[in-house]
Amino acid sequence: MKAANFIDAAVAEYAVSHTTPPDDLLLALAEETRRVTGGNAGMQIAPEQGTLLTMLVQLTGARQAVEVGTFTGYSSICIARGLPSGGRLLACDVSDEWTSIARRYWDEAGVADKIELRLGPAAETLRALPEQEWIDFAFIDADKVGYPVYYEEILARLAPGGLIAVDNTLQHGKITDPSYGGNVPGMRAFNDLVVDDARVRTVLVPIGDGLTLVRKG
Ligand SMILES: C[S@@+](CC[C@H](N)C(=O)[O-])C[C@H]1O[C@@H](n2cnc3c(N)ncnc32)[C@H](O)[C@@H]1O
Repeated sequence: MKAANFIDAAVAEYAVSHTTPPDDLLLALAEETRRVTGGNAGMQIAPEQGTLLTMLVQLTGARQAVEVGTFTGYSSICIARGLPSGGRLLACDVSDEWTSIARRYWDEAGVADKIELRLGPAAETLRALPEQEWIDFAFIDADKVGYPVYYEEILARLAPGGLIAVDNTLQHGKITDPSYGGNVPGMRAFNDLVVDDARVRTVLVPIGDGLTLVRKG
């Protein structure tokens, strides 16, 4: 995915060009994803979001992370790279085909020992997780209709001070336009739910396709 398309193009490009770029491994993964998955490659997070994810995991000192929506592995590698040795990422997806690419790159990136993949509907995977507050960092980037459920199931298990990052919350800038259907009205309802949630503090960051950061407590 290219730089945020709801910001002046020159400013968006400037911001990206002043953000630490992806390394050769992430560039190769992005290239293979484009070649193998075609139009679906647009689902991959933007490179500057990847840099931010690694930094957020480092800043929060997270040891236990959960990702909902792994695809070919770009965001999972960025998260795993921010975890300390002994840190763990539970990666949730429904696609064996797409995550088989992720698994190959996890090996190449040297993060495979930190990541456990769970294939199946993420709502079921999350509901089956221990109900204590053990998650330090979570990234939600799967089917948009599932967001409210993923948010609630993760928040219930999030440690105080833990962080959830949620992708696509600006819907390519269509979020404010009431004439759009599809995922836009549902995302608007989700954004309202989060900002009105007294359990959290939140910032909607206009990076990539919009990345909402939610801190518990
Ligand atoms: C936007 S992509 C994730 C992109 C990924 N974060 C990256 O950086 O490349 C969405 C992913 O969610 C997965 N997905 C869709 N519905 C799902 C569900 N109900 N449970 C779990 N994963 C799901 C899809 O298979 C797809 O790989």
